Amino acid sequence: MAWLTVYPDNDPTVVELSSSDRMVVSGHLAMAGLLFERWNAEKAIDDTADTAAVLAAYAGPIAALKRARGFQSADVVRVPRGMPEAGALRAKFLAEHTHEEDEARFFVEGSGAFYLHVGDRVLRVVCERGDLLSVPAGTKHWFDMGPDPHFTAIRFFTRPDGWVAAFTGDVIADHFPRYDGPR
Ligand SMILES: [Fe+2]
Repeated sequence: MAWLTVYPDNDPTVVELSSSDRMVVSGHLAMAGLLFERWNAEKAIDDTADTAAVLAAYAGPIAALKRARGFQSADVVRVPRGMPEAGALRAKFLAEHTHEEDEARFFVEGSGAFYLHVGDRVLRVVCERGDLLSVPAGTKHWFDMGPDPHFTAIRFFTRPDGWVAAFTGDVIADHFPRYDGPR
């Protein structure tokens, strides 16, 4: 279950809210204009599963989400534990950026932390298995996969070409606590 921490955007030492209560997390994210839902993610995926195998295992929820949310396509991002290039991959998404389309992620394994810069708040959402989070187009955010990255997430797209990061140039991400891994 996702774990939400809310900070004022100008002071990362002040925690205004910290909760993993489902109603608190989904209610707070809804108020901020973010889609957050819990979906069943109980399918076992073995270490050798490729994109096709993950998509096949979750064909049911993927079809339901496409119908419910208008997603056009889905693919898989998988970071296995111990991946040699994990450090470089972690660094890639650690600076604040936006996209021209929604960034929708359904975590089916492992965890990672989204930091959403909404108004004058930073909302940190640690996503775990079963969490679906959609960051709306144009929302400033960054993502930390932690020091020992391990996750599998199904990515949904509403248009074929929108998922390119536009970096804001703001160094805000450097001032906030990093994600240090699962609790
Ligand atoms: Fe992003």
